[in-house]
Amino acid sequence: MRVLIVGGGGREHVLAWKLAQSPLLDKLYCAPGNAGISAVAECIDIAADNIEVLNKWAVESQIDLTVVGPEGPLVGGIADSFRRSGLKVFGPDRKGALLEGSKVWSKRKMRQWGIPTGEFTVFDDFDDARRHLARFYGEPVVIKADGLAAGKGVTVASGPAEAEQALYDIMIERVFGDAGKRVIIENCLRGEEVSVLAITDGRNFVTLPAAQDHKVIGDGDKGPNTGGMGAYSPAPIYTAELARRTGELVFQPLLKGFNDSGIDFRGVIYAGLMVSKNQFNVLEFNVRFGDPETQAIIPRMQSDLLPLLLAAAEGDLKDIRLEWSDHSAVCVVFSSGGYPGRYTTGHVIDGLDALAEVKDDHVAVFHAGTAIKDGRIVTAGGRVLGVTAWDSDLRKALQRVYRAAEQIKFEGMYYRHDIARRALTKP
Ligand SMILES: Nc1ncnc2c1ncn2[C@@H]1O[C@H](COP(=O)(O)OP(=O)(O)O)[C@@H](O)[C@H]1O
Ligand SMILES: [Mg+2]
Repeated sequence: MRVLIVGGGGREHVLAWKLAQSPLLDKLYCAPGNAGISAVAECIDIAADNIEVLNKWAVESQIDLTVVGPEGPLVGGIADSFRRSGLKVFGPDRKGALLEGSKVWSKRKMRQWGIPTGEFTVFDDFDDARRHLARFYGEPVVIKADGLAAGKGVTVASGPAEAEQALYDIMIERVFGDAGKRVIIENCLRGEEVSVLAITDGRNFVTLPAAQDHKVIGDGDKGPNTGGMGAYSPAPIYTAELARRTGELVFQPLLKGFNDSGIDFRGVIYAGLMVSKNQFNVLEFNVRFGDPETQAIIPRMQSDLLPLLLAAAEGDLKDIRLEWSDHSAVCVVFSSGGYPGRYTTGHVIDGLDALAEVKDDHVAVFHAGTAIKDGRIVTAGGRVLGVTAWDSDLRKALQRVYRAAEQIKFEGMYYRHDIARRALTKP
């Protein structure tokens, strides 16, 4: 099979790394890819959101399956466009992608389809929204911009004053553009967050082992939000009972709702859950693999990934069974100094060869923002790469990942030293 991956981050690298191991694969491409991906796939210099050009290239290159990594092209209709050209795609069409592309649509559907989620109200007028905040006097409140905002559109405000500032930035300043036409004001939920991913063909689904990520930059979960600084799988708080209820209360009603609405969702549904005392609410859905959660989940997968993604794309998942190792996996993300604020790029990354020479088959490096310059691998983004290690228990996986991490060096390099530590305290 000839497979194209769309995207160029750590998530696309781990998907490429796993697909490259498939005996069914003849040729793997990635557009645009990155320095690390170029070791396992041929990188094509077309941006992930350049849908028309990608479509033409995929037709000419006789691609058998396209796997779409990021949400942008999905919300932009890449799957609709490819399917019109007779191409098989892993990823929902534009209607299904609304689940992530519009938080208002998504929350309303959750309410309509009986999926547990926090209480919320939608506003398209700044003054109305501002007045509503009075109800939250002395309480935390959550403000969400409606559309895609690169993970920056949500403010968990400590009270009305901070919430009003967020409303102003979103609705008046329009810092997220049209995503600020509508906002959600939501009750603040407490608990621990878990990411649960399900692969679906639109009717059947199979869930992957859960993962937890670390969203903020600093140790002890302090500082501003980022795209994700690390992740681990399994998630100790996600019990078998919770897994059963997530299927019953989240994925089943969601797929039924999709079917009733004529949405044929072929891809991955990511449910962000807030879990507290064995109860849970859905914070949000995404329509693509999580980054960096996927870097901690896929290395535990013993089955071939290619037939799974193909079956979902073809709309026939029922005969798929997946096998997983009972290893714990941890991914530690390395970022550029200054990230998530301003940072510089183009710094040479040392230690990758030394790490590869150790030939530890329980360690893998997944590149995010990297590029090749004068034959050397250099930094090219805020999140630069992730190191994942896996072992028979979490403690051993942590030792292994941080030992490997010591090998890597680049100017301004930063990573958190406490990834997965909170999970160590769980039974
Ligand atoms: N109702 C809520 N209560 C408490 N925290 C929330 C709530 N909604 C969102 N958050 C926090 O904000 C983060 C981002 O919100 P989310 O809905 O996942 O949007 P996005 O990932 O698009 O930024 C969540 O991971 C969570 O930490
Ligand atoms: Mg989120």
